[in-house]
Amino acid sequence: MIKNRKILITGGAGFIGSNMAESLYRNNDVTLLDNLSGGNLENISSFSDKVKFINGDIRNKDTFEKIREDFDLVIHLAANSDVRAGSTDTKSDMEINVLGTHNLLEFMRKRDVKHLMFSSTSTVYGEADVIPTPENYGPCLTISLYGASKLANEGFIWSYYHYYGIRPTIYRFANIVGRNSTHGVIHDFIIKLKKDPRELEILGDGRQEKSYMHIDDCVGAMLHIYEKDTKGDVVNLGNDERTSVTRIAEIVRDAMKLNDVRFHYTGGIDGRGWAGDIKIAQLSIEKMKQYGWKNRYNSEESVVKATDEIVRQMK
Ligand SMILES: NC(=O)c1ccc[n+]([C@@H]2O[C@H](COP(=O)([O-])OP(=O)(O)OC[C@H]3O[C@@H](n4cnc5c(N)ncnc54)[C@H](O)[C@@H]3O)[C@@H](O)[C@H]2O)c1
Repeated sequence: MIKNRKILITGGAGFIGSNMAESLYRNNDVTLLDNLSGGNLENISSFSDKVKFINGDIRNKDTFEKIREDFDLVIHLAANSDVRAGSTDTKSDMEINVLGTHNLLEFMRKRDVKHLMFSSTSTVYGEADVIPTPENYGPCLTISLYGASKLANEGFIWSYYHYYGIRPTIYRFANIVGRNSTHGVIHDFIIKLKKDPRELEILGDGRQEKSYMHIDDCVGAMLHIYEKDTKGDVVNLGNDERTSVTRIAEIVRDAMKLNDVRFHYTGGIDGRGWAGDIKIAQLSIEKMKQYGWKNRYNSEESVVKATDEIVRQMK
């Protein structure tokens, strides 16, 4: 268990950040940094008096220059996390993810912070032709600016390790789902069905299949692997199975107790939901298992549990 550490969590008011903060604040000195562009103070309201909160933007060097506290560990989660946006907004992934992460790394270098956990993504693999995709797959030909920005982040982070000894544990997440999330397929379906409980528009052909991981497993796996990793590593986090978009639509329909819902498929681009969407994504989680982590929920169970949590939160 991570104890008595001084920890900075960027993106700490967001989905994964707030859940991570909740599991760490009791035994550690935790500071959250977030500009609340996607995150929400409501996510941390039950323990906000037990953590420090900095309202700041990682794009500004000033944000870091004003920080006086020392840290042993940074958990870097702040990012433009909207994968879809890149096809129309070509700046955010560069400015927030690439330049923002560089500002953070400079802060860590100057202030001698030696440990980093970083949230990368399955989208760094692009359209992999090896499925389940292992960590050593290459070349990584990304098909979204988001994926490209995270791949660039990994390169910078690994190079800072070699120059300055900032040891990273890099996690490439599948789709993480659960309470406090603000976007993604489960959210989209709930919002659409609230508007029209008789018809659900499904982007693409519904046969897109991805592996989903519940937030409790994600946070648990991150902390478990960080403690075992002694030399810096890149580790996929996900599940062994995939869940299709149509199956998710059925799970959401059932959780909302709706009977007569007509599914309307847009067809999308070659069945994809949007430009940059990956049709079939599944990561090899052998390394995660070798670290001794076992998920509590499989892909479908993760979707079912997350849907219940999100439906309850959106009431
Ligand atoms: N949720 C997933 O399925 C998933 C999958 C792969 C990778 N990730 C990565 O995990 C991390 C957390 O994702 P999440 O799902 O919790 O998303 P999120 O949007 O809920 O969290 C990101 C947080 O970063 C904050 N933020 C954004 N821009 C900022 C800026 N310029 N300065 C300071 N704070 C800023 C937002 O306000 C938000 O609270 C992200 O880096 C994301 O790319 C998430």
